[in-house]
Amino acid sequence: MQRYYFDHNATTPLREEALTAFQAALSSIHGNASSIHHYGQEAKQKLEGARRQVAQLLGAPAKDIVFTSGGTEANNLALFGAVGAGDHVVTTATEHPAVLNPCARLREIGADVTVVEVDGNGVVDPERIARAMRPATKLVSVMHANNETGVVQPVEEIAAIARKCGALMHVDGVQAAGKLPVCVASAGFDLYSVSAHKLNAPKGIGALYVRKDVKLRAQMLGGHHERDRRAGTENVPAAIAFGAAAGWWMGHGAEERARLSGLRDRLTAAVTQAIPDVRINGAGAQRLANTVNLQLDGIEGEAVVIAMDLRGFAISSGSACSSGAVEPSHVLLAMGMSAEQARSSVRISLGVGNTEEQVEALARALAEAVKHLRRISPAYAHV
Ligand SMILES: Cc1ncc(COP(=O)(O)O)c(C=O)c1O
Repeated sequence: MQRYYFDHNATTPLREEALTAFQAALSSIHGNASSIHHYGQEAKQKLEGARRQVAQLLGAPAKDIVFTSGGTEANNLALFGAVGAGDHVVTTATEHPAVLNPCARLREIGADVTVVEVDGNGVVDPERIARAMRPATKLVSVMHANNETGVVQPVEEIAAIARKCGALMHVDGVQAAGKLPVCVASAGFDLYSVSAHKLNAPKGIGALYVRKDVKLRAQMLGGHHERDRRAGTENVPAAIAFGAAAGWWMGHGAEERARLSGLRDRLTAAVTQAIPDVRINGAGAQRLANTVNLQLDGIEGEAVVIAMDLRGFAISSGSACSSGAVEPSHVLLAMGMSAEQARSSVRISLGVGNTEEQVEALARALAEAVKHLRRISPAYAHV
């Protein structure tokens, strides 16, 4: 059976540039980047080249990039590295668990956390952030774009509020890097998390941008790697592949974003035309060019995912991290949906391999699957 991948917010396939660079590095770069001999210096040079490429994608100086094991670690490093007992943190209800769970732990160790609500489109009002600020606020952590809905937050406006109040601004940019133009320096961000596997590079590597004057307590303790901000021998081949993918997004990002938004609009038009009682979650907000979150009245999102998988299409219900769990998405609940509405939602996330033909085929298969599921669903009363 022909299979199509529409779950790029969960993870992405490797780009050829990243794969080639990865394979070449695995077979030929085996030095430890901290060693002073030829092999070590060769690895170091390649590592620094990769750092420059990742930095360029974010509009940051290379020395402000700390390689981590991924987006989760970057978020943990930002939160635990900047916040301690007695400090106050402001975040939002639709953050990824890689922010919300560290915030819960920060509470346990004596920090105070305010979780600001979002509106019906999933957007946080900067005014609400401003009202949550206190003299003890050390950090504001708001995601750039949501992994489930693609909704983009007004992070620059929020960064200006944080700065005015003397707090640091952390942005979880895992879903945004590449898919939105980012310039951390001009946007006024202090900390920015990225993950390679969302950018067609390997899993197990990511980075945290740390503005040069930000004092960050390392969480991984050991040697003096990454300028004392993250100990542990660097994964040089993965960093090289990350750099290659970042380079591709630098060169082709604008064109790819335009292509993806064309595909997304086509998909949206086809789906809303072919399927009755369907809503686009977050429709009133600015959204990533690649993400569509659909609410399909009267059926379970999980059932739609399975029915689509049987037809050869990989989509998702909620975020990958919570799939398998029966709880409705905390993101959709925070947008004011009922548990039933949240459970009836699915996410389609486009990526570099998707074409117009695939999008048309997806819309047809989805219309078929929804029609079938609704016919057998007692919860759907419109047939
Ligand atoms: C918004 C967001 N933050 C953080 C993460 C975690 O990144 P990683 O999978 O690299 O640990 C994800 C992954 O889905 C994400 O979507």
